Amino acid sequence: MTLSRRDLLTASALLMAQPAAAWRAAASEPAAAGGGKPIILCWNENPYGPSPAARAAASACIGASCRYPDDELKPLIEALAAREGVGTDQIVTGTGSGELLRALGMLYARDGGEIVAAQPTYAELTRYAQGCGAKLGFVPVDRELRHDLAAMRAAVSARTRAVYLCNPNNPTGTALPAADIRAFVASLPASVTTIVDEAYLDFVVGPGVASVADLTRGEHRVVVLRTFSKIHGMAGIRCGYAIARAEVAKELAAARMTTPNVFAVRAARASLGDQAFLADCRRRILASRVRITTELARLKLRYAEPQGNFVFFDTGMPLKHFTELMRARNILVGRRFAPYENWCRITIGTESEVDAFLAALPAVSGRA
Ligand SMILES: Cc1ncc(COP(=O)(O)O)c(C=O)c1O
Repeated sequence: MTLSRRDLLTASALLMAQPAAAWRAAASEPAAAGGGKPIILCWNENPYGPSPAARAAASACIGASCRYPDDELKPLIEALAAREGVGTDQIVTGTGSGELLRALGMLYARDGGEIVAAQPTYAELTRYAQGCGAKLGFVPVDRELRHDLAAMRAAVSARTRAVYLCNPNNPTGTALPAADIRAFVASLPASVTTIVDEAYLDFVVGPGVASVADLTRGEHRVVVLRTFSKIHGMAGIRCGYAIARAEVAKELAAARMTTPNVFAVRAARASLGDQAFLADCRRRILASRVRITTELARLKLRYAEPQGNFVFFDTGMPLKHFTELMRARNILVGRRFAPYENWCRITIGTESEVDAFLAALPAVSGRA
């Protein structure tokens, strides 16, 4: 597939217009009260990272950074292919999975293509696709704030090019069993691509929730996305990848704009091998998740079943007010996700950050 000049201009204009930018600027400012750097619990980052091995690898490669990283990519792609049990021609790396989501959005937006997605869900793909001319079919999540697969299937029309499933879903945190995704994919026309974003899969505990990367070896067009920004704690280094059937992978590779730099490639390779670090992050984040939900239950604040490194809960008041009260205590929490006007997404930070959040919550929510 070749991209026109118009595609590229649209894409670069979209890259410059990130709606989250104002919020991000606030995170770099001191909080309103209390002074010092705020506690940042709004970006679903993993504050324990990068792993010791990734830090050492990234620090050691400054001397190699005068070279283009093309030869460096090959061993990373081989490691990812071996990990996923697929061929190297089925792996596409990107500067974060966000870049690959945008590239997919652009691909399926062509000629006014239609994309079906949950509401609310992670907006990287849908927002970018919309800017590229896609028609979006948003399907509300169900009462438990899960993807409503039956309604999403019903929303698929003859014009639908792709369906985006975020599993676990950001911002709700809920997850779908792999068997439900498999049945959903099998029910779709062969022309429709299912994009399964597994950014948070490493934090899942639910029975039956698992990767569907093996579907990329089957008949249907399935793209699975992974990132080094979450369990690997490398959000600032920017590395992600997609797994897809070879011809779909080829289309995606042609549509992306950049590939990971040498620091990202070497850090990612090292992090894949640092199993002790990954297990420790999972253990600590899951333990903090239980502490948060236990306190929410005690305060009788409703929450969606969390399967990621964040919790989505009903604050019982307009989110803006809750956010201001937390900010006055030096804590930055997640922004608004329509139509959940009172709900907040809180990222699971370090244990001491979670302590600070839990200490503030009773008074802020007025349920002490
Ligand atoms: C569901 C989901 N997918 C992808 C991403 C993007 O991750 P990356 O840092 O790899 O671009 C995020 C980031 O928050 C996310 O929440």
